[in-house]
Amino acid sequence: MSDKINVLIVDDIPETRENVRKLLQFEPDVKVIGHAGSGEEAIRMAKELRPHVVLMDINMPDADGIMASQTITTTVPEAQVIIMSVQSEADYIRRAMLAGARDFLMKPFSGDELIEAVRNVHETRPTYRMPPPTASPISELTAAHRKKAVREGNVIAVFSPKGGIGCTTVAINVAVALSENGHKTLLIDGSLQFGDVGVMLNIKALSSVIDVIERMSELDHDLIGSVVARHESGLSVLLAPPRPEMAELVKHDEIRALMKSLREMFDFIIIDTSSSLNDVNLAMLDVADRIILIARQDLTSLKNVSRFFDLSEDLEYERDKVMLVVNHGSNKLSITVKDIVDTLKWPVTAVLPEDEAAYSAADQGRPLVSSTLKRRPISKALDQLTIQLQNEFARKGMVVEEEEVSRLGRLARLFRR
Ligand SMILES: Nc1ncnc2c1ncn2[C@@H]1O[C@H](COP(=O)(O)OP(=O)(O)OP(=O)(O)O)[C@@H](O)[C@H]1O
Ligand SMILES: [Mg+2]
Repeated sequence: MSDKINVLIVDDIPETRENVRKLLQFEPDVKVIGHAGSGEEAIRMAKELRPHVVLMDINMPDADGIMASQTITTTVPEAQVIIMSVQSEADYIRRAMLAGARDFLMKPFSGDELIEAVRNVHETRPTYRMPPPTASPISELTAAHRKKAVREGNVIAVFSPKGGIGCTTVAINVAVALSENGHKTLLIDGSLQFGDVGVMLNIKALSSVIDVIERMSELDHDLIGSVVARHESGLSVLLAPPRPEMAELVKHDEIRALMKSLREMFDFIIIDTSSSLNDVNLAMLDVADRIILIARQDLTSLKNVSRFFDLSEDLEYERDKVMLVVNHGSNKLSITVKDIVDTLKWPVTAVLPEDEAAYSAADQGRPLVSSTLKRRPISKALDQLTIQLQNEFARKGMVVEEEEVSRLGRLARLFRR
């Protein structure tokens, strides 16, 4: 029983779901474990049932076979998605493949085609795995968990050369979205003097990063578990010191050592940094795998960002370490996003629109992505940015398994060119 390929069928038309089920019902090695009628239902059922293969209709009324494929491939990485679509949806299919789908079937397809695709994606699935989502507190990590956690977590620093343009907004929302997508995530308020994370997430805690730094020699899961604050999303948060002058107690080499250990305990570590370029801040930028660099569509921001790019060259950061994100995006400004790309000769990874929802979220101490404001344009843009990050790191992980990647399905190979 347990050796069977467990399949989830997703299609908004009940007859189609039934037809697909019938095509599979006599296959000894396949078991249909569920049906979903929408993208949202598919995501929920995939998280719950953890199928090996998801047969996904791409064109559903909630439009979101692509979004569902993307979320499922990142949050249920053992699930291989096969798209079911009609000929005219070629562009959709391409986007779905980029979103992590492994293969596609053109409707109408035969039982043989279907079963061949199911077996093929299952047999050639990559061996790379993101660590499974876990809600257990850090102090309850078992030896088995510890072993999995040895895979290094990803560190993302959010930085802007000038203050006040959205670092904390981006950091808290990306961190909450990662956590809600099932990743074990830690948010560090690296703006050590005047950190806002506590206020913007409405977290009041007595302990802070100072408590970890002071006890570095004892650093383990239990210590971290006892000093991090917990946000209702499941996110762990390490707050800034309670008084500005205490920031001086933190040294750059301690930050480097701390991050090394934390990588073993979390899938993602997001650092909200301040805008100064002191030793401690530079240590946070150095240790990061990615720096989300926030810019605005104005001249001073362009000038400062350009200077930061010069600095990052001097620091010998790899080019793809820095991701440029425009905040307060608007098409009413004289400097356009295209001007920014042309001037800086750097791609813009995401544009977060100007949206007053950001102010109300900050005032209420609620993250945009998980509040009643989650359907606002800025919240959707933040969700999208999070998914891009997840995909990027998932791809990075897959590179390690080069041999396995070469065995990926025929279309996945095609799109890797
Ligand atoms: N896209 C946006 N549209 C409208 N308001 C925004 C947007 N992004 C952020 N804000 C608001 O701008 C203010 C400053 O944002 P935030 O605190 O995230 O910036 P910061 O770069 O962390 O600032 P600081 O340098 O003070 O740490 C907040 O009130 C926030 O809600
Ligand atoms: Mg801030």
